[in-house]
Amino acid sequence: MKQIPLFKVHMSDEAIQSSAEVLSSGYIGQGPIVDKFEQKLHNYLELPMYAQIVTTNSATAAEHMALHMLKKPGKLTQMFPEYGGSSIYDDWKGMEDGDEVLCTSLTCTATNWPVLANNFKIKWVDVNPNNLNMDLDDLRRKITRKTKVIYFVHWGGYPVDLDEVEKICTETKLKYGFRPVVIEDCAHSFGSKYKGDYIGSHGNLCTFSFQAIKHLTSVDGGMLITPFHEHYERAKLLRWYGIDRENNSKDFRCEADVEEWGFKFHMNDVNASIGMANLKGIDKIIDRHKENGNYYNENLKDVAGVTLLENKDDRESAYWIYSMKVDNHDRFMEHMKECGIMVSRVHERNDKHTCVKDFVSPLPNLDKVIKEMICIPCGWWVTDEQREYIVDCIKRGW
Ligand SMILES: Cc1ncc(COP(=O)(O)O)c(C=O)c1O
Repeated sequence: MKQIPLFKVHMSDEAIQSSAEVLSSGYIGQGPIVDKFEQKLHNYLELPMYAQIVTTNSATAAEHMALHMLKKPGKLTQMFPEYGGSSIYDDWKGMEDGDEVLCTSLTCTATNWPVLANNFKIKWVDVNPNNLNMDLDDLRRKITRKTKVIYFVHWGGYPVDLDEVEKICTETKLKYGFRPVVIEDCAHSFGSKYKGDYIGSHGNLCTFSFQAIKHLTSVDGGMLITPFHEHYERAKLLRWYGIDRENNSKDFRCEADVEEWGFKFHMNDVNASIGMANLKGIDKIIDRHKENGNYYNENLKDVAGVTLLENKDDRESAYWIYSMKVDNHDRFMEHMKECGIMVSRVHERNDKHTCVKDFVSPLPNLDKVIKEMICIPCGWWVTDEQREYIVDCIKRGW
């Protein structure tokens, strides 16, 4: 029997055509199409002027670069109008080996491994069992003088309470004399909104993924949104060895002085052309994810053995995945398989891996919820008939 898939690649005809044009144009590296894609993304997400986009070849690269840039001490100017364009990180001390990053374990390893790659220490924060995001009460408890960064994912697309995070940062400033920097991993949440604004636009460092099965794909790709004036030009250099691609007036092959070495994290015009073409139809894709998610909210709410997750009025999930909790989890999985419906937990808890054994700490909420949580198909490809069938199968019991 053909299964209803949990993920599917959305590739528009225009993406296929425009990438073919770039492929045969003779120029397939990073060029003007990357700039154009960044502009379109900025417009789409209605970012404030101070927020700047630097695309990369993956979200993992953007995450690595965000953390790497925080090593440098100095001013970080966050140009909120209410701060009059001045810095709220006048005294950013920079980060050193062994500094602490507060992380969530329930995410893709891509979120957390860049913390290790940058030689920082992970301190796990438990999950909120009602929404699978970082538990902000546990976050508050775990902040110490050593906390430099708060780093979380909007699980499945459901936004973390960003006002509460802001409150915690302000409290930390009052208590310890500095604000931690916040990094939002937005890989699941392209098109999600918090208090009416797109995720990515709330003044934190944000990373997005355009990998194959995300709402918006460029085959592979990602972006960093930085609210910090000092990061933008630097990130553009760091994504390509530290060499200035825009101001290379001499022999292109013989670079001018590299002041700060960088990576090979840049996006190219082929990927940018695919991303840009797919962006044109993105509203339809995201709307269908949301419609299907809301259908399940309505139709699974009173089903025995199912506990739905929190869904507050002040935020809107883009439902990259639809997660819920079920009794008798293993039997549920077998039942859905028998029905021809693909289900999964999607990401394994990161703290169980050997490479992070030094950071193990009790996470009682996660211990419980990991045995209950499951994701069912809800993307753009799930038809009205299929979602009704999925609900019927669940209602039948397992
Ligand atoms: C939460 C999360 N963060 C980061 C990533 C990494 O994205 P990329 O493959 O673009 O590096 C993923 C990929 O699935 C993800 O789910």
